[in-house]
Amino acid sequence: MTAEDTINDMRMRATKHLAEAGSREEIIAWERAFLGPKGELTLFLRRLASLPVDERPTAGRGGNALKTELTEAWNARHAALVAGDLEQRLATDAVDVTLPGRPPILGAAHPVSQMIDELSEIFALLGFQTVFGPEVETAHYNFDVLNIPKDHPARDVWDTFYVDLPGEIVLRTHTSPMQGRVMEQTQPPVRVVVPGRVYRYEAQDASHEWMLHQLEGLAVDRAITMADLKGTLSEMARQLFGSERRTRFRCDFFPFVEPGVDFAVDCAICGGAGCRVCKGSGWLEMGGAGMVHPNVLRAVGYDPDVYSGFAFGLGIERLTMMRSGVDDVRAFAGNDLRFLRQFARAA
Ligand code: PHE
Repeated sequence: MTAEDTINDMRMRATKHLAEAGSREEIIAWERAFLGPKGELTLFLRRLASLPVDERPTAGRGGNALKTELTEAWNARHAALVAGDLEQRLATDAVDVTLPGRPPILGAAHPVSQMIDELSEIFALLGFQTVFGPEVETAHYNFDVLNIPKDHPARDVWDTFYVDLPGEIVLRTHTSPMQGRVMEQTQPPVRVVVPGRVYRYEAQDASHEWMLHQLEGLAVDRAITMADLKGTLSEMARQLFGSERRTRFRCDFFPFVEPGVDFAVDCAICGGAGCRVCKGSGWLEMGGAGMVHPNVLRAVGYDPDVYSGFAFGLGIERLTMMRSGVDDVRAFAGNDLRFLRQFARAA
């Protein structure tokens, strides 16, 4: 077989195989078989020197021509395959640009935050400034200043998380410690509200949480009376629950007020007839209140013969529960988006 025959034979087989190669893997294998470093044509060209002298020019020209020819054929075939792949992908992975977009999920203020904002606004219109205090508090402000001495049984009312062993540092059990902090730093007239978290060492159930939010109110001036307290809380109840609402004040005991009351609003849902939300009583309890105890005024350096004041503490979750008919306080810290989304409103 002459060199020319070898070349022609190779051309025939190579062309046939290339035409048959249907996948990228196959044409890559083809290239390796003919044009690669150990490919048939490469080896043929390398052996030219061992041919008889008179055959070398034809064999060289023919071999190199075949190399060009096969390289071009391979390039064309490769391009065709790639184009085919692309077309196929375009057909199957097509994006339907006419589909409507997915709306982004927007966050919203937590119902407790919404209630705090609303209360701050209501009280701002009544002349109260909103201030914040520490959640990790000293027993001094949480208890002592508030006329709750150490070893006094009244301390047991607030199931306390202690932060240190001697019991000098606590997680505040109410927002009332800010009464002392604010009064120590200002002179009357004082009018502040203090929203924030408080902690109680309690077993959880539908109406008890170990973390909840309160809003403290404090007003101190000359000649502040119980009438101011009732007027302020009644106005707040009307703003929050509607102008028809009535309020109720009953005697209650808190060491830092005298007299002390608990206050309630008639149930907006049943109008006082009794329903699931007010548990049949017709009244919704909103919190404790009273006239600031003379001992508290004295502890912060105010003269109780000159100044008087009122204080109150509202349960924020409680207010939201009453207004929206939520029957389990655990829902607020439960992080269930289905619950929280019901309170989302446009910013
Ligand atoms: N701090 C009291 C509580 O958490 C509520 C309260 C505040 C009562 C202010 C009277 C005056 O129970």
